[in-house]
Amino acid sequence: MGYERSVSAGNSGLSPETVWSIKMPELRFGRDATDELAFQLRDLGVGDDAHGLVVTDENLVDIGHAGRVRAHLEDAGFAVDVYDESEREPSVEAVEDCISFVRDETGEAGYDFYVGLGGGSCMDTAKATRAVIANGGGPLDYVAEPTGEGNSLTQSGEPLVLMPTTAGTGAEISPVAILSVPEKQIKEGISSGHLRADAAVLDPTLTTTLPPDLTAKTAMDALGHAIEGYTTHEYDSLLRPEDPSERPVYAGRTPLTEMFSEKAIDLLSSNVRAAVHNGDDLEARERMLQGALFGAIAGLTAGASLCHAMAYPVGNKYHTKHGETIAVLTPASTIDYNSASDPARFAKLAEMFDVDTAGMTNREAADALKEQYIQLQRDLNVLPSGLTELADITADDVDWLAKQTVETQDRLLRCNPRPVTESDVREIFLDALRNWEE
Ligand SMILES: [Fe+2]
Repeated sequence: MGYERSVSAGNSGLSPETVWSIKMPELRFGRDATDELAFQLRDLGVGDDAHGLVVTDENLVDIGHAGRVRAHLEDAGFAVDVYDESEREPSVEAVEDCISFVRDETGEAGYDFYVGLGGGSCMDTAKATRAVIANGGGPLDYVAEPTGEGNSLTQSGEPLVLMPTTAGTGAEISPVAILSVPEKQIKEGISSGHLRADAAVLDPTLTTTLPPDLTAKTAMDALGHAIEGYTTHEYDSLLRPEDPSERPVYAGRTPLTEMFSEKAIDLLSSNVRAAVHNGDDLEARERMLQGALFGAIAGLTAGASLCHAMAYPVGNKYHTKHGETIAVLTPASTIDYNSASDPARFAKLAEMFDVDTAGMTNREAADALKEQYIQLQRDLNVLPSGLTELADITADDVDWLAKQTVETQDRLLRCNPRPVTESDVREIFLDALRNWEE
């Protein structure tokens, strides 16, 4: 039986959802948590003479983080290989390269454990690689049709631990790996509970080396997760599936979402200036990493929505970074367009961003939220003022972007709290060309 978004959808014989659940990797958080990686792996059942792979990129080798992790694992008695060719916003081909590396080094069985070290791209490469090694074939077998075969993952594979070096993407807890398909100019996700890591080790000392612009951009991604989670539809606006295994991975907002969103917004909005302007401020870095984690727990279990849906076609065509794309799109999409779905909720959000809403209507509070959010971006000094500054995007480009969003991002658009048409998306893209005058 088909699974539809709305409780009023047809005579499906299904009743409204009454249950929510949350699945999470084991979490280990704090300064020098890296020193507990070997303990974490053993706790997941990794044996003493195990041979593992660290999936990372050249930059993290140069900075020394990959060497630190490798030395720690070797000191603990493990044999370790390092794959340092993860690419930013990885293509299907880039993941195939990592899978080939694993098969060349170890055969079909693969490594005894995997560590993904880096930003979202390294972590997604590690997630997709482990999944394909465990389930056989190649990445496209598990990408949704028509781009891929749409097969389901049935195995999780050997233990995987993720270690973020940015505070933002939430890839360390999400059940998704985003892969680009350059010839089609689209991004596709492999989405499955089997893709999720077994554990995440979050060490703020690995994030102090992140330069100001990347700190700001990943922070805006994290804030986006928190705000989108807080404002998406409630879990009980869906239908309850006949079999719990059919419940979607993005199942709507729960009481847990609210709690984590609120804390995430507080931590991120009150520490991002310090982290961007003084990267060595370890206390601010720690709070940012915590805020990003909480934002991901909120947004990436409830489901990201319109802003993320619009960001993927932009990133794919113009090769912009995910976080900066989220930053320029959030005011027009998540705040301006979606606030009509539940103005009182957006007024509460304004309060979370320290707007004094006394005497304001909900609509005025939502407008003030937008101004406050834009001011935060301007204070960081490294973010583009809109799509035009981001990638020379003009009104002429908007039709294509809107069409792509609607045609390829149904998975996320279904989560949006306000219904959205292609012409709505076009208007929102136009609004996002310029958020402020430079
Ligand atoms: Fe994101």
